[in-house]
Amino acid sequence: MASEDGKQWNDAADSWVEFVRSGKNYYSEYLNGPALKRMIGDVEGKTVLDIGCGEGYLSRFFAKAGAKVTGIDISQGLVEAAVKEEEKHPFGIKYFVADAADLNMLKSESFDVAYCFMALMDIRDYEGAISEASRVLNKSGRFIVLIEHPCFTFARFLDGKVVSDWETRVREDGSREYLFYWVADYLRRHSYAVEWKHDRLSSSFVTTGFHRTLSDYVNALTKVGLVVTRLDEPQPLEEGVRVHPPMKKHYRVPQSVVIETSKVRIGLGRGYAHAHAPQQKHDVKPSENILHASSTELRNKYSR
Ligand SMILES: C[S@@+](CC[C@H](N)C(=O)[O-])C[C@H]1O[C@@H](n2cnc3c(N)ncnc32)[C@H](O)[C@@H]1O
Repeated sequence: MASEDGKQWNDAADSWVEFVRSGKNYYSEYLNGPALKRMIGDVEGKTVLDIGCGEGYLSRFFAKAGAKVTGIDISQGLVEAAVKEEEKHPFGIKYFVADAADLNMLKSESFDVAYCFMALMDIRDYEGAISEASRVLNKSGRFIVLIEHPCFTFARFLDGKVVSDWETRVREDGSREYLFYWVADYLRRHSYAVEWKHDRLSSSFVTTGFHRTLSDYVNALTKVGLVVTRLDEPQPLEEGVRVHPPMKKHYRVPQSVVIETSKVRIGLGRGYAHAHAPQQKHDVKPSENILHASSTELRNKYSR
């Protein structure tokens, strides 16, 4: 299954690389990228791991800021694009094609900071990925996760029906007004086909998304001994709203959440988090019962 996920992102590679490098990924440029950078702060002289690095634009950003960066991604096509860029403009970044849940090529306790930017909700074995991130972090290291907000996931499909989305109406001038966000089913875990199709992409493609709850993510982090130190539900930069006015709706409802965790223990005995993690009852185990539904219709209507 992991190789299928890699294949989907390989098939998407050309379109994704063009999308990111042309600056048309407005959500990364004006909302999520700035939020991650704020949370990570100064990286001068630090060892940094980019998990699900894609074609490497954030790896390059942190390398330029003085970090010693390693990037890993399951897609060979995207890693090749990252390596080509590194060959053209060397920053000393090392890249590996790998499943985030198996980072055997990386030594334990070898990174000051690890982050997973807009990728954990696309990673099948998210608990394995979190466990590996914790393993490779130094004793006082930090792991920062930025994901599409699981409470407000854009046009999520379950059993062939949309179960969470923006309610909109078309104004007289033809523009779309985003009224409110609705959620019909949040607690069922499932996977679904994410159809990337809008006018800022050179060609459309399909990937797999995994819906989990916020508590699933937080409990998976605390289970491996990571302590949640900060949360952010970021708002877009004003410049972003000027460039892409539909982003204004995220002044009211967040598109993403940033979770900062640390290996530092704050007075709780070792094993506390594991012993006290609530037991999750999953209606649908993502890896066993995969529900595929199409979101083409909505993605065509409202590009994000
Ligand atoms: C939405 S893209 C984000 C890429 C990059 N972080 C960025 O912002 O440009 C999601 C990334 O997750 C990667 N991915 C999906 N499953 C993965 C896995 N199991 N292990 C590592 N990377 C994975 C994909 O190949 C893809 O590059």
